[in-house]
Amino acid sequence: MRSEALLHNFEVYLEQNLPAVKSFHPHFEEAFTQMFKAGGKRFRPLLLLEVVDSYAPLLVENSLPVALAVEMLHTYSLIHDDLPTFDDASLRRSTETLHVTYDEVTATLIGDALNTDSFYMIATAPLRDDVKIALIKTFAKNSGGEGMVLGQAIDCFFEDKKLSLDELTFLHIHKTAKLIAASLKMGAIIANLSEENQNLLYEIGLKIGLLFQVQDDIIDATQTTIEAGKPTSNDTVKNSFTNLLGIDGAYKEKQRLIEEIYADFTSLESDLKQRLTIMIEKYFK
Ligand code: IPE
Ligand code: IPE
Ligand code: MG
Ligand code: MG
Ligand code: MG
Repeated sequence: MRSEALLHNFEVYLEQNLPAVKSFHPHFEEAFTQMFKAGGKRFRPLLLLEVVDSYAPLLVENSLPVALAVEMLHTYSLIHDDLPTFDDASLRRSTETLHVTYDEVTATLIGDALNTDSFYMIATAPLRDDVKIALIKTFAKNSGGEGMVLGQAIDCFFEDKKLSLDELTFLHIHKTAKLIAASLKMGAIIANLSEENQNLLYEIGLKIGLLFQVQDDIIDATQTTIEAGKPTSNDTVKNSFTNLLGIDGAYKEKQRLIEEIYADFTSLESDLKQRLTIMIEKYFK
């Protein structure tokens, strides 16, 4: 399947299968779906689905709940990231953020619900139980206190304290790269790839994730709010690649990472290599 078709299937699945949260609460349901309706690049679910489609195309449909779980957890991380106590952003995916439309309690709780419900999506997916346990292990390890949450904690704590390049890389690996790497590995788990190949994809995923955050830092420093769909020039006192290396230095680091990733792709089987190359070209041109 072409990536456009994978993305289309994902969007249809998302629209029909986001957990129903009906109640007499006046806006909880509306708030729950707002950030999904707003769009987003769907980079992480696509990574997962490309791996599955490359090795086990018959399992793509059964993988859609897992791809949705990854997007749900990512969306929760964005909702919390935008809260006044984190980055205090009023725009996300070109849409007003939840704490602005509603209030901080709603935004915090929608994030909490998405986090928990994402694990329910995996637990109830039409896949073998041993596969689902392996998926949940990888997903939890990379998103919780050893993964994204640790990255966010370091990001926020050291907001106005300068980190070294090694420390900044550690921060970006945790807050962004681990979930991206986990997305590739989860595709590999579903496709029943060997542990060695799962780990190979995970390691490449960490580099792709670092590249993703370097580019995100460049977006903050170079794009307008309209172009980015979120407030830019928001990282002026943050530890970012552009602040530490300068804009030219960040562009050089981006290029260096792309070359390293392409070199790593040579060890992949040719169909997946082609799919991931197309993704790198599309998302990082
Ligand atoms: C933004 O993620 C936050 C980072 C981890 C850099 P994305 O750039 O994937 O955001 P959406 O999903 O497209 O809105
Ligand atoms: C956030 O990083 C990464 C997450 C884990 C959500 P940023 O704070 O740089 O993300 P943006 O720029 O607001 O999307
Ligand atoms: Mg942030
Ligand atoms: Mg932010
Ligand atoms: Mg950013």
